[in-house]
Amino acid sequence: MVNTNMKRFEQRSVIVTGACGGIGLATARRFAAEGARLALVDHGGDADAAIAACKTAGAEDVFAIACDVADPQQVDVACAQALQRHGAIDVVVNVAGMMVFKPLADHAPEDWQRVLGVNLLGAAWFTQQALRHMRAGGAIINVASVHARATSPLVASYAASKAALLSLTRSAAIEGKPLGIRANAILPGAVDTPMLWSNPNLQSGAETIAPDDVGTPDAVAAAIAFLASADAAFISGASLDVDGGRLAKL
Ligand SMILES: NC(=O)c1ccc[n+]([C@@H]2O[C@H](COP(=O)([O-])OP(=O)(O)OC[C@H]3O[C@@H](n4cnc5c(N)ncnc54)[C@H](O)[C@@H]3O)[C@@H](O)[C@H]2O)c1
Repeated sequence: MVNTNMKRFEQRSVIVTGACGGIGLATARRFAAEGARLALVDHGGDADAAIAACKTAGAEDVFAIACDVADPQQVDVACAQALQRHGAIDVVVNVAGMMVFKPLADHAPEDWQRVLGVNLLGAAWFTQQALRHMRAGGAIINVASVHARATSPLVASYAASKAALLSLTRSAAIEGKPLGIRANAILPGAVDTPMLWSNPNLQSGAETIAPDDVGTPDAVAAAIAFLASADAAFISGASLDVDGGRLAKL
């Protein structure tokens, strides 16, 4: 549940991708509670339910855009729609992501292309639009994963996409600085969403997670909102672990 009296995003226009899913929806609700105008980007899910949840959280101006983030033309159109409706883009949160579970030896070219297309290039297309259209004071937040630093079997393309996303974030921070735009990455650990529990490694018992290593989507959303806010004005190019300390363990 969103619990904040802060209103750090009044008069700010925020795009959240993957906004109908676990972390994306929690992020949208968090920005809604803090006064933002919202564009909810997703290629599936229940957009009406996501809009309703944002309104309940306090959003006065929220709309949904159907868009596959892997398609640069759809991303261009989505950003044009957000600009037309809100007159500005102040924050872009790249949450949309997916996994393929296969041994590295069995990864088909299409598997690599889809995972990199969504997880890495989706963020790259939105970053390109942000650097073209965002006003000074803007912020890009890329949702990577602890798999960017350490990984497990069967998720090679996912881990590679998330590691590359950290590199993209650094480049965006460097090129955004003269424009007054910051870029940072969040590395969630295990978060209680459909993506976590559909993980075949967990379902087969090949990987186990202690209950106190599972975080909530709202906890990730709070970290994202911090990095997007003026409270993080001197933070750019950073990668923030949001994993309850899981990566720190031997
Ligand atoms: N849940 C976890 O434990 C966990 C851990 C680390 C990182 N992450 C990352 O957090 C992000 C969100 O994960 P989640 O657990 O909320 O997943 P989720 O599956 O619940 O939600 C993902 C959302 O992204 C959307 N999406 C997927 N592909 C898309 C595309 N091509 N275009 C537009 N929208 C698309 C889906 O429709 C869905 O609404 C992902 O990038 C994921 O890699 C999740």
